[in-house]
Amino acid sequence: MGLSNLVDGVQVAAVVCNQFGDTGKGKFSDYLASQWADVIARGTGGNNAGHTVVVNGKQRIFHLIPAGITEDANGKVNILGNGMVDDLEVLCGELDCLDAEGLSYNNLMISQDAHVILPCHVESDKAKNQSQKKGGIGSTGRGIGPCYTDKIARRGVMVRELFDKDVMARKLNKLKEYYPDSDFSDVVERLKPYADRIKPFVRDTVSEMHKFYREGRKILLEGAQGLLLSIEHGTYPYVTSSDCSLNGTATGVGLSAKAVDLPLGIVKFPFMTRVGAGPFPTELGGRQSEVYCAEDGHTITDELVYYGIPFEMKEGRPRYDKRNSKILDMIASSDEFLQGIGIRLAAGEYGATTGRPRRTGWTDAVAARYAVGINGPLMVLTKADCLSDTGDFNLCFGYQNTLDFSRDAGVLGKANPFFKRYDGYSEISSARDYCDLPKSLKTAIGDLEVFTRGKVLVVSVGAERDETIVRK
Ligand code: IMP
Repeated sequence: MGLSNLVDGVQVAAVVCNQFGDTGKGKFSDYLASQWADVIARGTGGNNAGHTVVVNGKQRIFHLIPAGITEDANGKVNILGNGMVDDLEVLCGELDCLDAEGLSYNNLMISQDAHVILPCHVESDKAKNQSQKKGGIGSTGRGIGPCYTDKIARRGVMVRELFDKDVMARKLNKLKEYYPDSDFSDVVERLKPYADRIKPFVRDTVSEMHKFYREGRKILLEGAQGLLLSIEHGTYPYVTSSDCSLNGTATGVGLSAKAVDLPLGIVKFPFMTRVGAGPFPTELGGRQSEVYCAEDGHTITDELVYYGIPFEMKEGRPRYDKRNSKILDMIASSDEFLQGIGIRLAAGEYGATTGRPRRTGWTDAVAARYAVGINGPLMVLTKADCLSDTGDFNLCFGYQNTLDFSRDAGVLGKANPFFKRYDGYSEISSARDYCDLPKSLKTAIGDLEVFTRGKVLVVSVGAERDETIVRK
């Protein structure tokens, strides 16, 4: 089955993450955007997300604008939906980058109903939530939580209100009460150039979406973060402030989840990651790794220098041999903490938004089964290529203290995982047919399907668009 069979008869597809985010949604949204969709819409979160897209070897990272923007010149519409929180400065910065690259964004639409991240939100987030050392949950510090807090408390600023001086003055005056340490005196002036710049793109995107739907246009919903970080379904309070499930993503663009014919849940496999604080049962190195990743001074370059792995800087990023013998030795080590760092280096798992090291562990089939219950049975596996030639791998099929995935962070934090071990596999990036995948990988995928009662439809074997296997 090729892509055409996968999307045969599909009008609305969704790409959501079934783990803690950073599963490679960007690549897959870009793939569907370029090959299939007419309209690409994001419904939740803000610039806490970082979607990496690689086209012809060139890597681009978007934080707000959907990954389908590279297809604007082909008439595709990209929408920042009503459920999002928009930082206008960051948004305009992304427009600048598109300009610099000569990429068009004529068909971009920004929801008039999305909420605006204000300087007070960023300041408050940085002061209260960002630093795990100061008792925060390790937020991205982008003002997401405070902005959604004001939305829920019915005092937030919506995009459409930016253009009404009186409403802005009234709203900001009210907000001052809640952010006494913030300077509101020049907020309107600071926002004005950004508001003017985005004005031509501001629309009632819900009406537009309904029109596109009625016209039978092909719509792709691009998720952000991941189900296990959802405010509704995640490991509360170690979550983001939006509902990044399929339901929340659909609501965030003005559609019902029932409209989604092809809901795809992305699962990083056979390893997974988490950023920030919170329970992660399969984490390699457990608490030691969580504490280490929360400390400053462990960026990718710090780790490369510390472990003596040669690299050179190119376009601001270190380039290195991901199969360097020192990395392989770390993964083969009996010290799980070192193993986790080795996997991070082998897979390049550092935050696209913050540069933070991501905590690493084996893929958790119990969590995947929980996600299937909410986001549906169809799965896309990503990043398996990152662990080719690195030795045996494990999958978790149970915990000692709880039968199922628990949203109770206390219970999940004590969950002791049971693993099944599989043989390692060699290079898979050139595989284009499911049959060509190594036996041990296919066995593990089969076990995941049986355990979750899900179905793996796609296996991504590299960052490029064509490095994708759509299953027969
Ligand atoms: P916030 O979304 O910035 O409020 O952060 C809340 C939690 O979600 C923190 O643990 C973040 O590390 C995590 N988080 C937010 N966005 C992402 C993402 O795009 N990928 C992975 N983790 C994220």
